[in-house]
Amino acid sequence: MSRDTLINLLYLVAATTFILALKGLGSPKRARGGNVVAAIGMVIAIAATFFKHVDGHALYHLPLMVVAMVIGIAIAVPAARFVKMTAMPQLVAIFNGVGGGAASLVSITEFSHIHSSHPATYVVLEVLLGVLIGTVSFSGSAIAFAKLQELMTGRPVTYAGQQVINALLGLGGLGLIVAILVSSTSALLWVLLALAFVLGIAFVLPIGGADVPVLISLLNSFTGLAVAASGFTIGSNLLIVAGTLVGASGILLTRLMSKAMGRSLANILFSAFGSATTGAAGGAGEQRPVRSGSPEDIGVLLSLASRVVVVPGYGLAVAQGQHVLRELAEVLESKGIEVIYAIHPVAGRMPGHMNVLLAEANVPYEQLKEMDEANTELTTADVALVVGANDTVNPAASDDKSSPIYGMPIIHADLAENVVFLKRSMRPGFAGIENELLYNPKTTLVFGDAKDTLTKLVASVKAN
Ligand code: TAP
Repeated sequence: MSRDTLINLLYLVAATTFILALKGLGSPKRARGGNVVAAIGMVIAIAATFFKHVDGHALYHLPLMVVAMVIGIAIAVPAARFVKMTAMPQLVAIFNGVGGGAASLVSITEFSHIHSSHPATYVVLEVLLGVLIGTVSFSGSAIAFAKLQELMTGRPVTYAGQQVINALLGLGGLGLIVAILVSSTSALLWVLLALAFVLGIAFVLPIGGADVPVLISLLNSFTGLAVAASGFTIGSNLLIVAGTLVGASGILLTRLMSKAMGRSLANILFSAFGSATTGAAGGAGEQRPVRSGSPEDIGVLLSLASRVVVVPGYGLAVAQGQHVLRELAEVLESKGIEVIYAIHPVAGRMPGHMNVLLAEANVPYEQLKEMDEANTELTTADVALVVGANDTVNPAASDDKSSPIYGMPIIHADLAENVVFLKRSMRPGFAGIENELLYNPKTTLVFGDAKDTLTKLVASVKAN
């Protein structure tokens, strides 16, 4: 078998592992395995590439490549190992951005190689699309990172005529591509690069920090497309397959997230949700009475229940209360009380946030119920224990047509006999709107940090 055939076979193996990995990522139970399979595939792909020959020569600059990889590994491994779960979206943003940037650099390098040889129009088009999309993904992800890391305001940054300017920038990019194709003026490539850089920033500025995870998924899809384009450029089937998989899965995930938030992608990208002018109806409104209780009272209520549905949300991740929550569930189960977890697809701030959080605490996968199944279970539950969730249980999403979250499917915690909220204050959730369920006569609020309250609940249930 020739060297090229062997390398292509290894690439085929790698591409297959990427597809299997995506399949694995479809369920919390198999997600870890899926990640490992993809990592093995990536190692195979990278190792095989080192043995490639181009025009009868081994790859140029191999030592430099190794040095670059060692530097990359030295930065990325600790960053991924020690990142806080709540900071995961910005880590994904930065990793995604460098992927887009790398794809753009490959295209720029290739442009300088092919330009003098009068390549076919479609070849130049692939290169230019790689530069445009990869650079937009790079600078857009950098701003997304800065927003989530609070290096700049997380609110939408808007100004008069913004959407017109953004549209003009987009059209300008396409116009430049046509101009380069027609005139073969290579200097215009640098103008395209600069314009794409500005476009990426301008595109992300009006998107509010908390909508950024959806945007990151979209930018991820852009990076996949840029990688696929650079795969066409350098004739790498593996890059084409891997890039297309990322592009397609990114766009599917973006759609799923938009649907689970009950908002269109256009609304997420262009409505500046969360700016002073939108939604944000809650907060400093009139004072209305609510029923609050102590952890001791709720300990008694839980001990008397036969079925408890836990509804976790962003606040559980902030409080890092997942381990104590599992302990509470175990104490309840030891008393013969059934405990399940109702998982809303956009609870928290990133896709699968609650799955990852609860998996970290070794909560059994069988106890995690997706929204529809959880809503059925709630009809026979004695207590819905809402831990740091708010918007995802807000009945306004189904009852109030004027609400910014109207249309978002929710966990119907109100179907349970009793509803208990663990939160620190009357502050609203991400959408910034009041939650009527907090005022429902069957609701009791236990104010305080979720982890502290859960710890007290464990003690109280044990004592009952
Ligand atoms: P949210 O509606 O954001 O509510 C979180 C609640 O947690 C708040 O009410 C907050 O109240 C409470 N909280 C915060 N820190 C706490 C702590 N240490 N202890 C106890 N409570 C604490 O959360 P959710 O129900 O998970 O909904 C998620 C929202 O994010 C949705 O609107 C969704 O559309 C949006 N979103 C999600 C995603 C993804 S992919 N998951 C992406 C973008 C946007 P206090 O401040 O009073 O404690």
